[in-house]
Amino acid sequence: MRLGWPVQIAGTGLGLPSRVVTNAEFERRLDTSHEWIVQRTGICERRFAEPHESTLTLATAAAREALADARLTADQIDLIICATITPDHLLPSTACELQAALGCRWIPAYDMAAACSGFVWGLILAAQHIVTRTAQNVLLIGAETLSRITDMEDRATAVLFGDGAAAAVLQPSGDPQRQILAVQLGADGGRGMLIHVPAGGSKLAASPETVASRAHYMKMQGREVYKFAVTKMQEVIQQTAEDAGVSVHDVAIIVPHQSNLRIIESACERAGVPLHKVIVNIDRYGNTSAASVPIALHEARCDGRLRRGDLVMLVAFGAGLTWGSVLLRY
Ligand code: ACO
Repeated sequence: MRLGWPVQIAGTGLGLPSRVVTNAEFERRLDTSHEWIVQRTGICERRFAEPHESTLTLATAAAREALADARLTADQIDLIICATITPDHLLPSTACELQAALGCRWIPAYDMAAACSGFVWGLILAAQHIVTRTAQNVLLIGAETLSRITDMEDRATAVLFGDGAAAAVLQPSGDPQRQILAVQLGADGGRGMLIHVPAGGSKLAASPETVASRAHYMKMQGREVYKFAVTKMQEVIQQTAEDAGVSVHDVAIIVPHQSNLRIIESACERAGVPLHKVIVNIDRYGNTSAASVPIALHEARCDGRLRRGDLVMLVAFGAGLTWGSVLLRY
């Protein structure tokens, strides 16, 4: 869908746990190796939250940095959207807790549960609020502590995920060049069970049995997700460019969800995107779900790979299954 929404990213920020967990730590506990993990996923290390840290503390740190970057104070924010599948509590929402932690006004605040696509979906929602003038300054955060729902005894998932948060401030754009050109979003609920947490919701409430059977941890059919991800990401990249009336070659930078280096490489190669245009940091953070795209976006802004006037595409897929993209002129 071709849009031309006058919305800009005014600031970004990062909130990472300080504890770095290398592949060597898993080698000591599980039947795995640094070589297997690097070859199959591209991951060398990830961050895990310390006991005193949570999704909210990481989100708060990221939000404060993004506000400072955008030269705004907390009371100037009109709306908070927090993309997360690991909220501090089932209720209240992490976004509401964040509103209080930052000292914002009594502005609306809500969580977005679209797993790894959460930040991209949140960006589309934030832009809609701005375009419809229900908000001027929107604080959007992707924040996760996946280590709290990952089975550290399951080698097929334990090595993949990490914790972290990143935030962006979205505003109406003063410059007519700076706009959101096209977006894609979709979901296939029929494939929801490919990545799911069996217990802890209303269907299977927490009990001694669910704890004993490790049913509060994420279960994933990795190979099926892999195949879906490569095809869908390629399709979304090409369709988004086509909708905007640009060639994939015009896109300066792609910021993909950091799920697996092989997925990123295959999808981008098939879509005709050279790898030097693709932001990759999975080697240092693993898969941080909703935090993955904004962490990579923040790093690309800070290290100068993303420059004013560039066409940048954010693209993600995740549990649900969900997918989404945003093509914007930065
Ligand atoms: N160390 C060593 N061996 C392992 C490990 C490990 N950590 N994990 C699995 N293996 C073994 C398997 O048991 C299997 O052994 P077998 O052949 O004897 O049965 C073998 O390695 C191959 O297993 P596969 O699952 O086929 O390995 P694959 O190459 O597909 O890689 C992976 C697995 C990395 C999980 C891959 O499938 C993947 O990345 N899938 C996508 C995951 C993803 O992107 N999820 C995103 C959504 S997450 C969210 O939304 C929160």
